[in-house]
Amino acid sequence: MNRRSVSMIDVAVLAGVSVGTVSNVVNSPQRVSEATRDRVQVAIDKLGWVPSETARQLRAGRSHAVGLIVFDISNPFFTDVALGVEDALYRQGLSVYISNSDQRIEREEMLIRHFEQNRVRGVIMAPITNVNEHALQLRRRGIPVVMVDRSRDEDFCSVGVDDVEGGRLAAEHLLAMGHRRLAFVGGPMTLAQVHDRMTGARLAMDNHPDASLLTLTTPTLAVTPGTACATQIALMPDGTRPTAVFAANDLLAIGLLQGFVAAGLRVPDDIALIGYDDIEFAAAAAVPLSSVSQPRRALGERAAAMLVDEIAVAEEGGPHRHEIVRLAPVLVPRASTMVKS
Ligand code: RIB
Repeated sequence: MNRRSVSMIDVAVLAGVSVGTVSNVVNSPQRVSEATRDRVQVAIDKLGWVPSETARQLRAGRSHAVGLIVFDISNPFFTDVALGVEDALYRQGLSVYISNSDQRIEREEMLIRHFEQNRVRGVIMAPITNVNEHALQLRRRGIPVVMVDRSRDEDFCSVGVDDVEGGRLAAEHLLAMGHRRLAFVGGPMTLAQVHDRMTGARLAMDNHPDASLLTLTTPTLAVTPGTACATQIALMPDGTRPTAVFAANDLLAIGLLQGFVAAGLRVPDDIALIGYDDIEFAAAAAVPLSSVSQPRRALGERAAAMLVDEIAVAEEGGPHRHEIVRLAPVLVPRASTMVKS
């Protein structure tokens, strides 16, 4: 049964509810019990129904909007990626609905569902997990999806940075500065980007059997857990405390810097510190932070270009081969890792 023949009545019949209940599930879900919402959603998914007000928009013409899902809208990394996406799509006459999954799967799923109901032309997303069944479903319904800040999903076009190489660069830099007791601070490890950076740091350690790498896992990639880790590190006795820390992103590094200063530890004299992303605040920190730069706007622009290509192919019915692009990270040394002259 193709999408155009499916109506709200078909959904109501299949779910065994009234048409009004189906309308409430779509427009005012808080008025419907969870069990009924789930039953209606199963019927909607089974029939591939798209709410009529959105179908009207389709008949009247195509949506001019693209959905963008990031997982931490408060992080300047994603602001820069979003600016790259917006600039590239503006040139194509398209606008961007920017949304935040807040690293919560249920929110990511809801956002994908709402973008489908609003029949956006396509979706760009920084996914929280590996296999994204809901993104695959979106594409099966004819809405192209491109992954950004990831470059591994062969089922989608994707663009990201080689985070294993980035982690290796960061650790290699600390080792080159003479450090042998290192720490990696980052998390959650379920984020492939964080795990890859730690893997890269461990690869660098392989060439230095006299060196050690302590790993401190954090719940998120934010300032506060960075400060908490600094407090934990500062309490370690001299002689066992790491002399250098690699933070999985710059916000953690900024939190670590704040914590070390509060604990009376000087950066870099007592402990060196390097972050990742090279957001604007890294260079502007009280002690300018060394970092591993990600080409943030270029990531957004490339993801947008991939999506525009895939939209054209989807709407003209041509073949499409997914592209996986891995951009190079760049080491940016600054005062926070410089050895005293
Ligand atoms: O700072 C946000 C981090 O989350 C970035 O390193 C980006 O790669 C994402 O994984």
